Amino acid sequence: MEPTREQAWETLNRYTKSAALLRHALAVEAAVGAYAQRLGEDEELWRATALLHDFDYEIHPTLDKHPQDGAPILREEGWPEEVIEAVLSHGSHLGLARDTPLKKTLFACDELAGFIHACGLVRPDGIATLEPKSVKKKLKQPSFAAGVNRDDVYEGAELLEVELDDHIRFVTEAMRPIAGELGLRQSSD
Ligand SMILES: [Fe+2]
Ligand SMILES: [Fe+2]
Repeated sequence: MEPTREQAWETLNRYTKSAALLRHALAVEAAVGAYAQRLGEDEELWRATALLHDFDYEIHPTLDKHPQDGAPILREEGWPEEVIEAVLSHGSHLGLARDTPLKKTLFACDELAGFIHACGLVRPDGIATLEPKSVKKKLKQPSFAAGVNRDDVYEGAELLEVELDDHIRFVTEAMRPIAGELGLRQSSD
């Protein structure tokens, strides 16, 4: 098995039917892939990891199973341990060290990509003109996208050692080219 982005997409789709979950995977992939490029890392492997991080969420929707019970499935398919360990490390309840650039980046992009997506859904032009300032304002409104853990967003930026503004801008820009696939309105619509 080749640990490619295409293979990860295939695995993800075998276990996931929800359009929202597939969009979440694509959003995180865009962000993690952009960071791989910026850091000169293995973009294909990083994209695959991002696509797979919640692959078992539909079959394991609770924290006593996700993501830990997905790991044996990935192992069985022949995914490299580097991918599996990174997938496992995004689950904070497992308390695993985020000790590689891939683990840090995945964690830093997971909740933030979801939050930026939520911001885009309530704007007339999606994320086309979304600025860090308005994302940060929304982060301070607990009722907005209440499912997104704010501490994880702040902790992610710290872990990556990037300014929150820069992190938000970078992830937003990474998501813009796939705004249509993410179900976000685009300025030309
Ligand atoms: Fe997850
Ligand atoms: Fe996720």
